[in-house]
Amino acid sequence: MAFHRHWIAIQSSLSKQTGFSSKIVSYWLASSFLIAIIFLYYLLLAFWDNKLLFRQNQQVVPIGNVSGLSAPCQRKILILYWTKYFTSVDFEYGLGRTPFATCDDNRIVCLTTMDRGLVNESDAVIFHSRDLRDNDLPPPGWRLPHQHYVFFNHESPAHTDLNLLRRPVFWNYFNRTMTYRRDSDIVDLHPYETSASLPFQIDLKVKNKTVAWMVSNCKTDSRRESLVSHLSLLIPVDVYGFCGNGSHQCPSRADCDRFLGQNYRFYLSFENSLCPDYITEKLYRPLAHGVVPVVYGGSDYSFYLPAGSYVNARDFDSPQSLAEYLEKLMLDDELYLSYFRWRNRFTVDPKPVDGMCQLCRLLSDKKTEEKIYPDIAEWWHGGNHTCLTPPPSLV
Ligand SMILES: *[C@@H]1O[C@H](CO)[C@@H](O)[C@H](O)[C@H]1NC(C)=O
Ligand SMILES: *[C@@H]1O[C@H](CO)[C@@H](O)[C@H](O)[C@H]1NC(C)=O
Ligand SMILES: *[C@@H]1O[C@H](CO)[C@@H](O)[C@H](O)[C@H]1NC(C)=O
Ligand SMILES: *[C@@H]1O[C@H](CO)[C@@H](O)[C@H](O)[C@H]1NC(C)=O
Ligand SMILES: *[C@@H]1O[C@H](CO)[C@@H](O)[C@H](O)[C@H]1NC(C)=O
Ligand SMILES: *[C@@H]1O[C@H](CO)[C@@H](O)[C@H](O)[C@H]1NC(C)=O
Repeated sequence: MAFHRHWIAIQSSLSKQTGFSSKIVSYWLASSFLIAIIFLYYLLLAFWDNKLLFRQNQQVVPIGNVSGLSAPCQRKILILYWTKYFTSVDFEYGLGRTPFATCDDNRIVCLTTMDRGLVNESDAVIFHSRDLRDNDLPPPGWRLPHQHYVFFNHESPAHTDLNLLRRPVFWNYFNRTMTYRRDSDIVDLHPYETSASLPFQIDLKVKNKTVAWMVSNCKTDSRRESLVSHLSLLIPVDVYGFCGNGSHQCPSRADCDRFLGQNYRFYLSFENSLCPDYITEKLYRPLAHGVVPVVYGGSDYSFYLPAGSYVNARDFDSPQSLAEYLEKLMLDDELYLSYFRWRNRFTVDPKPVDGMCQLCRLLSDKKTEEKIYPDIAEWWHGGNHTCLTPPPSLV
C-alpha cells in the first residue's frame, strides 16, 4: 500500500514542479527498472521451478503411481494388467518402466500398472486368458475407442477355457493377441530362465547315460506318457521330477540342467499338447546345456531350430524305430556329435522375442490400425489352429 501511494506522489509532483523534472525522471526510470528486474526475476524463478517439476515427473517408476502421468505435455503410454498372470501381479514382466528397459527404442515411454483405477488412462488393457472372469471386466461404458484390449495366453488351447471365451461378452471384445503363436499381433515366447551362452564342453565318457525326462504333469493330452512308457521298455529312460518314482534326482535343483547336460545324451522335450507353435522351455533348456532334444509337439520345429539340432519323434512310425535310432546314436559318437554342428553358427537366445517391446511399439505407432477379433475362441482354436490328436502309431 505504501509503495503504491509513493508512486502516485511522484507522479503528481512531476506534473506540478517541473523544476525538479530531470531528477524525478531519472528516479522514476531507476525505480521502474528495478521493478521490472524484480518482476523478471520472479518470472524466471517460476519458470525454472516448473522445469524442475517437469523433470521430476519424468522419473516415474513406482507401481501405478499416477503423479508422473498427470504432466500434460508428455505422451506416455500406459498398459494396465487387468488380471494376474497366475500368481504374478506384474505378469512376471515388472511394473512401471521395467518391462521396457531392454527395448531398442527407448525414446518411447511405456509404463505398466496393475492399478485398475487407471483404466480410463490406459492405452492397453491386458487379460491373461487363464485368469479371465466374465464377471470381473472393466465396465463396458468406460471403454474408449483408442484402447486396445489384449488377449494374453502362454498356455496351449488344450489348457484354455474355450467355453468361457465363447461367451457373447467376448465377441468383438479383444483388439490384439499376445501369445506364442506366430500369427499373433504380438509374438511372445516363454522367457527362458537361465543364461544362454554357456561354454560348450562335451565329455562323451562322462556323458554315457541315454535319456533323461523331467516331468511334473503325468497325464496329458499329447499322451506323451504313453510314448515314454513304450520307449522305456526298449532303452533306458530316467524319469526325474514329480512323475518319476523318486529313484532319479538331481544333486541340486539349481544345478539340474547342468547335471543332466553332463550325463545324458538325450532329453525328452515332449509337450503336454500337440498344438500349432506350442513349444516351451522344455526345448530351450537341453539345447542350452548340450543335450540333444527329442521333440514331440504340434509345432513345425524347423521354424524354431537349426536343422540337425534335434530328433523329432513324429518323424518315426513307431516307438521301436525311434528307440533304434537313439541306440544307433549312442553307439556312433561321430553321428551323435554331428547334432552339435549348429553351434558353429548359432547360440541359444534366452529371449528371442520381446513381447512387451513389440506391444509398446504397436501402441505408440500412429499408423496402428483398429482391429477387432469377432470370435477369440475361433481364432485360438478354430480352423487350422486345432491341436493334433496324438498319432496312434506312437502312443
Ligand atoms: C506416489 O508418489 C508420491 C510422490 O512421488 C508418493 O508420495 C506416494 O506415496 C506414491 N504413492 C504410491 C501408492 O506409491
Ligand atoms: C472412467 O470414466 C467414466 C466416464 O466415462 C467414469 O464414470 C468413471 O468413474 C471413470 N473411472 C475411473 C476409475 O476413473
Ligand atoms: C559313465 O560315466 C560315469 C562318470 O560319470 C562313470 O563313473 C561310469 O563308469 C561310466 N559308465 C560306463 C559304462 O562307461
Ligand atoms: C523306480 O522304477 C524303476 C523302473 O522304472 C525301478 O527299477 C526302481 O527300482 C524304482 N525305484 C523305486 C524307489 O521304486
Ligand atoms: C477395439 O475394439 C472395440 C470393440 O470392438 C472397438 O470399438 C475399438 O474401436 C477397437 N479399438 C482399436 C484401437 O482397435
Ligand atoms: C491357416 O489358414 C489360413 C487361412 O485360413 C492360411 O492363411 C494359413 O496359411 C493356414 N495356416 C496353416 C499353418 O496351414
